[in-house]
Amino acid sequence: MVKTSFKIGNVEFKNRVFVASGTFGYGDEARELFDATKIGGIFTKSLTLKPRKGNPPPRIVETASGLINSIGLANIGVEKFISEKLPLLKQSEVVIIANIAGGTIDEYCKVLEKLESANGITAYEINISCPNVKEGGLNFGTDLKATAEITKIVRRLTSKPIILKLTPNVTRVSEFAKVAESEGADAVSLINTLVGMAVNVKTRKPKISTVTGGLSGPAIKPVALAKVYEVVNAVKIPVFGIGGIANTNDALEFLIVGAKAVQIGTANFINPNISVSIANGIEKFCLDNGIADVGMIVGTLDTTGNESVLKSWL
Ligand SMILES: Cc1cc2nc3c(=O)[nH]c(=O)nc-3n(C[C@H](O)[C@H](O)[C@H](O)COP(=O)(O)O)c2cc1C
Repeated sequence: MVKTSFKIGNVEFKNRVFVASGTFGYGDEARELFDATKIGGIFTKSLTLKPRKGNPPPRIVETASGLINSIGLANIGVEKFISEKLPLLKQSEVVIIANIAGGTIDEYCKVLEKLESANGITAYEINISCPNVKEGGLNFGTDLKATAEITKIVRRLTSKPIILKLTPNVTRVSEFAKVAESEGADAVSLINTLVGMAVNVKTRKPKISTVTGGLSGPAIKPVALAKVYEVVNAVKIPVFGIGGIANTNDALEFLIVGAKAVQIGTANFINPNISVSIANGIEKFCLDNGIADVGMIVGTLDTTGNESVLKSWL
């Protein structure tokens, strides 16, 4: 038997594989496609106070090795989530981490308070990193003071784990992780999408309605790994690694670099069952290699003889 469970704050999760926000709706549509009780949990689509239609189409485009999306935080709003989605999810015993977005700190707080009184949410991920809407939290995610303020305030509203989701669209993501840690966050997750664009040469028009959007998928994995490496060397709180994970090997790379757990995003659109396969794959890797606890892999990167430029920042 391999130990797969791990803890964030006072919560124990079954294993270290999760589905990332926005790539799995509210966890209900895929009920017939995969068994979400086999993974650590589901990060919901970002929830805002009022329902949002999101950006006009086209809002998704495929590039050589990734997607560019500009969904614009389309969601049903926190109240409808609580009345229509949460009851079903509770029945199926799926672990739910609610991802929260907003235009003001007050909006983040109101969404969190509503979820807190609804019961059934295990932890909160605070999205301060959406690049596709003005009020998508990027103003908080690229400003150290605002990151500190929002973390401090939401921290006071709950005893459940608070996970700050960070953007790679800053010079030093580790500075933001340090601020989140010092204001009481239990964990950070990174990376959200990188700003990207694609152009139709015939029409000379951008391929998505908002000109630029968020790049995700295999194209961003090397960037994500480097950002996770930077952050795990700067903070003590757990890090969720996200970015281009499409198979067990990709997930293991993030764990080796130091992520305590991983989230799978774009790969869900190709295979909705991929997170269960990756959770099984990690367990098999441990069995095959005589590793008793998945945690023994975390942070085992061997940099002997290598010199890291990033380290001089930390
Ligand atoms: C279509 C789409 C919608 C997304 N929506 C959200 C969202 O609502 N909130 C959020 O925090 N991240 C959102 N993300 C970002 C993902 O959760 C993840 O951070 C990012 O895609 C990188 O991981 P990946 O390369 O595995 O997809 C979205 C990503 C995609 C592709």
